[in-house]
Amino acid sequence: MMLEKLLRILADGAFHSGSELGRSLSISRSAVWKHMQRLQELGVEVYSVKGRGYRIPGGLDLLELSRLQQLLPEAVRTRLGQLALSIETDSTNTQALAAMQNGVDTGLFAAEFQHAGRGRRGRQWISPLGSSLCFSLAWRFNSGAAALEGLSLAVGLALQQALARVGLTSVGLKWPNDLLVNDAKLGGILIELSGDAAGECQVAIGVGLNVQLPETVAEQLDQPCIDLTRLGYAGTRTDLLAGLVSELIEMLERFENSGFAPLRSAWEEANAFRGREVALSSGPRRYEGVCLGVTDQGGLRLQTSAGQEVFHGGEMSVRLQ
Ligand code: BTN
Repeated sequence: MMLEKLLRILADGAFHSGSELGRSLSISRSAVWKHMQRLQELGVEVYSVKGRGYRIPGGLDLLELSRLQQLLPEAVRTRLGQLALSIETDSTNTQALAAMQNGVDTGLFAAEFQHAGRGRRGRQWISPLGSSLCFSLAWRFNSGAAALEGLSLAVGLALQQALARVGLTSVGLKWPNDLLVNDAKLGGILIELSGDAAGECQVAIGVGLNVQLPETVAEQLDQPCIDLTRLGYAGTRTDLLAGLVSELIEMLERFENSGFAPLRSAWEEANAFRGREVALSSGPRRYEGVCLGVTDQGGLRLQTSAGQEVFHGGEMSVRLQ
């Protein structure tokens, strides 16, 4: 709570003296200093100048719960049971799964910072506080795990469409679920399931989208990355989150009713690797071929030297040759 108050004061990017901050938060100046250290641990760049105080250069665009509630259409708000925005958490996917274990039906969990953000294939998802949008939707499906094969593709498509609505029309999709711009990664999706493989599944749909990645972080990543600020997005993260969540909920309802097949042609339109030579690795195996598109279930179709082959499952990665 204290950290959040401090962040909201510093979010304006102006200088605030230690004594002013201490007064506003009813803590000592040395406690203010300790909080500043903590902010730096979470990846926030804090300038401290003797005699003037502390400032966050460029300020911070923090998520605003009341604005989010205003922006979400009524139907979406009612469909979304729980709505939780936090400054820090372990992983919003963990939050979503835990909430469902505790009886929550549907919900949105977003955080400014994740201590244990997860990416696909056991990777970490690293992003300094406020530099990306990290959120998870908790959702229950009744049709068994097998019917969810196309889900990550449907989610990618919803995000791509929501971004196009705010003018970001150059976003493409990489099977099974990355968002790319000119082959650089803008975001990723991590879907985690628990429950009954043949019946009701509780699904955490986790989305990480780069908003303003510091150069130092981008350099550490294992592939080229891009963020929304570099693409010219000038709106707030809250507005963006509202647009993404609205589009996602609508998409999840469509997917529940009719599966992936009716979405296939739209997905193929957005396929960033269509007609290109790709290499696909699945565990120790590697396949090469031309990316043809996807099946009605969401499997990847490749033209390999053995003919047309279809690949399933979320543990594969596609790389340009
Ligand atoms: C990937 O491309 O590897 C998927 C990244 C998914 C990251 C998001 S951030 C919100 C949610 N919580 C997590 O721990 N991971 C997902």
